Amino acid sequence: MENITSSPAVQLRGVFKRFDNVVAVEKMDLDISEGSLMTLLGPSGCGKTTILRMIAGLETPTEGDILIKGKRVNDTPIHKRNLGMIFQNYALFPHKTIFDNVAFGLKYRHVPKSDMKNKVFKALEMVRLPGVENRMPSQLSGGQQQRIALARAIVIEPDVLLMDEPLSALDENLREEMRREIDNLQRMLGVTTVFVTHDQREALSMSDKIVVMKDGLKQQEGGPEEVYNYPANHFVADFLGHSNFFNGEVVGLENKQVRVKANEGNEFIVESPGNWTVGARIELVIRAQKFKVFYKNQQPPEGSVNLLIGRIKDRSYMGGEVSYFVELETGTVIHAIDMAKLKPFRRGEDVGIQVAPRDCSLLSKTNGSA
Ligand SMILES: Nc1ncnc2c1ncn2[C@@H]1O[C@H](COP(=O)(O)OP(=O)(O)O)[C@@H](O)[C@H]1O
Ligand SMILES: [Mg+2]
Repeated sequence: MENITSSPAVQLRGVFKRFDNVVAVEKMDLDISEGSLMTLLGPSGCGKTTILRMIAGLETPTEGDILIKGKRVNDTPIHKRNLGMIFQNYALFPHKTIFDNVAFGLKYRHVPKSDMKNKVFKALEMVRLPGVENRMPSQLSGGQQQRIALARAIVIEPDVLLMDEPLSALDENLREEMRREIDNLQRMLGVTTVFVTHDQREALSMSDKIVVMKDGLKQQEGGPEEVYNYPANHFVADFLGHSNFFNGEVVGLENKQVRVKANEGNEFIVESPGNWTVGARIELVIRAQKFKVFYKNQQPPEGSVNLLIGRIKDRSYMGGEVSYFVELETGTVIHAIDMAKLKPFRRGEDVGIQVAPRDCSLLSKTNGSA
């Protein structure tokens, strides 16, 4: 009777959430397919946690519907939704053993004792911490405690796993390790997951789909490569990666390539799939990582196209890469991040800069992008 494959595991339909006069979430539609990992990405205060809390049943939508496996759950209490949750402050029970922490959801669901033991041991193995069941949380490191929180969330075999900035309390190296851990575990279990973060690297590296949000509104939705390479508007281009922006207009159309003149004076050739017309006001977006920086007298990597001359104003060495601020002949300062050469360019040095037409993107200034 029931066609399981036809409904997404989680759906939001026209969901609004208002707190007094604050609109936390506006007109939100989401389809999260079974077994996938969707990330809600956006700055603090954009409504990410509120969405998770509504899926969990900790908040009720002011308007709209939430469906889990095709069934409307607006009025289903939290304990009747089979969800695993992990939050930033892992919140293990400090006076319970690891076993009792992991077993918590099973006890609550009246799972028989023998089953419980098997399930807890299996969950501890999955997070690669077998044998710690008799310890107390304080005897584990922060990273280990977060893995226990993960074990506690998956032990109940949830329909959906909800994670709210689970890595933000960890230091950089541990964060990278946990990111891979969560990614692998999610794929192995095939559990539908909604992951919340304000960190673009987390979002880009783990997600099947990313939903970029601002002020409660969805800005763009797509795979990591799609939102990174084809940002839908200025906000997305600015939030993901380091972007250079040039306001200007289309001055020519030449076999699939668009010639644009930036207000600051330079002209660029852009490969863009859009339907552009001469005279259209545009914003040109160039990622800092897409600019190549080379010696002024060196052969430019892309021939003569989009070739600029500039002087290094500032640079910071970051190991594998160098971040440069380069003043162009027009006076505009651009940001370029290039692979570190044996001898990175120094402040005051004259350099050639180039960007390939395929590495530029255009946003229309006439249909609402800021
Ligand atoms: N319980 C609440 N009462 C009033 N305002 C709230 C409440 N929860 C969240 N908000 C407001 O809703 C907006 C979205 O918050 P939140 O979902 O926590 O954002 P995020 O998780 O993206 O940082 C913010 O403006 C926040 O202040
Ligand atoms: Mg939050």
